[in-house]
Amino acid sequence: MTKHPARIPLTRPSTPPFSVVAPHLKKVAASGFLTNAGYVRKLEQRAEKLLGVPQAVAVSSATSGLMLVNRLLGLTGEVIVPSFTFFASALPLLWNNLTPVFCDCDPETFNPDPKSIERLITKKTSAIIAVHVFGCPAAVSALTRVAKKHNLRLIFDAAHGFGASYRGKPLGNYGDAEVFSLSPTKLAPAGEGGIITTRSAELAKELKIARDYGNPGDYDCRIVGMNARMSEFNAVFGWAALQRLLQMAGRRRKLAERYKTRLAGLPGLTFQKIPPDCLSSYKDFSILIDPAPECAGAGFTRDDLAAFLAEQHIDTRKYFYPPVHRQKVFREYRRKNQQLPITDYVTDNILSLPLYSHQKTAEIDRVIQTVKSCFRKFHDQAK
Ligand SMILES: Cc1ncc(COP(=O)(O)O)c(C=O)c1O
Repeated sequence: MTKHPARIPLTRPSTPPFSVVAPHLKKVAASGFLTNAGYVRKLEQRAEKLLGVPQAVAVSSATSGLMLVNRLLGLTGEVIVPSFTFFASALPLLWNNLTPVFCDCDPETFNPDPKSIERLITKKTSAIIAVHVFGCPAAVSALTRVAKKHNLRLIFDAAHGFGASYRGKPLGNYGDAEVFSLSPTKLAPAGEGGIITTRSAELAKELKIARDYGNPGDYDCRIVGMNARMSEFNAVFGWAALQRLLQMAGRRRKLAERYKTRLAGLPGLTFQKIPPDCLSSYKDFSILIDPAPECAGAGFTRDDLAAFLAEQHIDTRKYFYPPVHRQKVFREYRRKNQQLPITDYVTDNILSLPLYSHQKTAEIDRVIQTVKSCFRKFHDQAK
């Protein structure tokens, strides 16, 4: 029987060693306070210090965080959101009875394109939701200018953002609020969880009430809130994970650079562009495969490459396909005759390769060699 090489997963959660978290989990169990207590506060304080933001509010997920932020910032009518993102950037709008208006993305960074956003603004627009796609900081300065000029709220879906920085400052410092995720695929996995950052003490205070059903503590709800509290057990994992965040992000950047230097120059293969004044967290490492041979393309599609890698027991993922505006619950919000040509191109040609914080270099090298074999195979066939 032939022995298959070990499967390389797309990602694995890099949780802190159990010996580090175990005493704290024990303390939680013994304390009788299982949710929204001391370790949640410790996690928030660590996030505030690490990101250099005055306010961090821990919630049960980035999705619930976005739902609360949209509500408490009083968004109304239309909200501009990218289509090239995970659907959870846009679902919180529907929960708040808001109308998503989908903007196109930048062809190089895949982040929301400020020019596309500006063209979509109407009298009904109240806000922009921007995303730091795959951990590459969005065009913060241009987006801030557009939001200010049109008097709009600016919220960053920073689900991929832990470990990334914009012009030397960590993400978390921009817009009216930023919302991070601590789910298992992120750089600081807590199991589940989210962190909202804001410079507004008032917003942070309201968010803390809203995540607890809207009850300010006197059993007399004054906000339409929900149960978006984080459990103390998750907070222990998140708190310990943030301690190692910079190390994890540094490791990912090293592995991503290895991919880039060794895959550079393959016909039709390009990388996400990280602006020179930014550091990406590389929550995902995604490549574009332009199949068109007439433009010196690869001569095969992203799906061909995914199938080739799968045969060699290497997992990949088509993040983000289909784009949000083509998904069932969102189709009705598409503006008449609206085209998102860059989003359509990127979503049809993108592929995420395996990358996680504690991944061995040898695994990356196997992926690189296998991608190169795929190019050789199709090149030989074309002869
Ligand atoms: C861009 C983006 N936004 C929001 C979310 C939702 O995060 P959570 O799972 O913490 O709700 C994700 C999850 O992966 C995401 O990728």
